[in-house]
Amino acid sequence: MNKELLNSDISIDRFKEISTWVSSVNNLDQLLELIVETATRMMNAKASSLLLVDQKTKKLYFKVATGEKKDDIKNFEIEMGQGIAGYVAEKGESLLVPDVSKDSRWHKEISESIGFKTHSIACVPMKVKGETIGVVEIIDKIDGSQIREGDVKILAVFAELAALAIGNARKIEFVTREVSDLKEQLAVKYQMVGDSKALRQVISDAHKVANSTISTLILGESGTGKELLARLIHWAGPRKNKPMILLNCAALPETLLEDELFGHEKGAYTGAMRQKIGKFELADGGIIFLDEIGEMIPAMQAKLLHVLQEGLFYRVGGNKSIFVDVRVISATNRNIVEAVSAGLFREDLYYRLNGVQLHMPSLRVRKEDIPLLAQYFLDIFKQERGLLHLTISEKSMKNMMEYDWPGNVRELRNAIERAVVMGNGKEILPEDLPILSSKPMDSGMRVGLTMEEAINNFKKEFIALNLRHTKGNRSEAAKAIDIQRTYLSRLISKYNLQKVR
Ligand SMILES: Nc1ncnc2c1ncn2[C@@H]1O[C@H](COP(=O)(O)OP(=O)(O)OP(=O)(O)O)[C@@H](O)[C@H]1O
Ligand SMILES: [Mg+2]
Repeated sequence: MNKELLNSDISIDRFKEISTWVSSVNNLDQLLELIVETATRMMNAKASSLLLVDQKTKKLYFKVATGEKKDDIKNFEIEMGQGIAGYVAEKGESLLVPDVSKDSRWHKEISESIGFKTHSIACVPMKVKGETIGVVEIIDKIDGSQIREGDVKILAVFAELAALAIGNARKIEFVTREVSDLKEQLAVKYQMVGDSKALRQVISDAHKVANSTISTLILGESGTGKELLARLIHWAGPRKNKPMILLNCAALPETLLEDELFGHEKGAYTGAMRQKIGKFELADGGIIFLDEIGEMIPAMQAKLLHVLQEGLFYRVGGNKSIFVDVRVISATNRNIVEAVSAGLFREDLYYRLNGVQLHMPSLRVRKEDIPLLAQYFLDIFKQERGLLHLTISEKSMKNMMEYDWPGNVRELRNAIERAVVMGNGKEILPEDLPILSSKPMDSGMRVGLTMEEAINNFKKEFIALNLRHTKGNRSEAAKAIDIQRTYLSRLISKYNLQKVR
């Protein structure tokens, strides 16, 4: 920067001020105006402008303009390669034109139509990550002196600042949009659909529980939405902006589970190359969701109990106690009370986890949710496959209402997904829903069985199917398959189907 500039009232301090503003962009338009105006004053220019490349049309438009014709000029668009600005935008190189009338690149229409006499122009590109996103130009000096190479250098510094500001703002905009898109997607993905009394009750209980840190145990059959309920508690509570960390207790053997829960220090064992933070630590301030807690092996149960009692733990191989503030939600589809009385699950741990118990009702006790759920899943899958007019036939819906859904909502979801994929694309028909069709189910036939074994397998399947269909009502089932009720009872004992309903 030359001496004359340093001595001018717009000094280096002004420059510094602008650079700090750049990093705290919150009003980009204002910032760009400030940058251009400062540059104009600093170089004593008659007019100046900042043009941006429209990302769709690839044309340049005026983002900021100064000088007496600044409002008129904003109506113009410039093609890539057209005029001085278009040339600089296309080439990505600065240009100083001391006399535009002698330069073939000069596109005089704009200045003529707005009546702005132009003699000389300096124009520099603005680049973000090597890509030209626009240009900044100044036109003539107020005192009639020449625009010099030194001015072009200063203009380039301003252009760089402007590019930085725009790059930052775009990044922020991109991230903000991405975050809100993701949040929206998550909210849709984890929506708890259903309007039955049983479901509304459990949702309302979950909201109450959400506002405390009481340990919560979610029970319910497989596929009823226990994990979904845990997410609801997370989002409805004060810890929603902290993580909810999931851990499946059934999936891992003891040593790995301990490593997952508590982490380890570097060198804790062979292969422990660096320190690892465990899930309890990751969940600090938030929630840990212990899924399938009923499957946790006794040795781990003891360790978990210890953490819950003391509120602290050690990383594997570490001797520094780590305190965490973690809310525990656990879930199981096992009959945990039975597991406690059978000595498979520690009673003291059960009481620790069971501050409040929530029970996800199975789908067959809230059949009024079936149409809502079916429609919800249909909407998801038909969108995915672009089958926008796909509907569910009346007969299919009736079949779904009559079916017992031993796999609950997950089974319904899978059934709809399969029907969308396999069906005719217009209407979901009963035969698209395999679980419900009259096609024979697995009859228990296999090479290697005796005739008697195969017949027994078939009988067992067949009776179970009919019992599920009648919700365990033996008289109804006997009538449906046309045998005596007493005979059915004998078969139920023989095949151990007492609990099927
Ligand atoms: N009420 C509901 N509304 C929408 N989707 C649901 C509902 N309940 C369950 N689902 C969906 O069904 C599937 C199973 O739910 P989830 O994993 O929460 O069940 P779970 O009880 O944890 O099952 P498991 O015991 O097998 O782990 C998921 O895809 C979930 O999004
Ligand atoms: Mg689950």
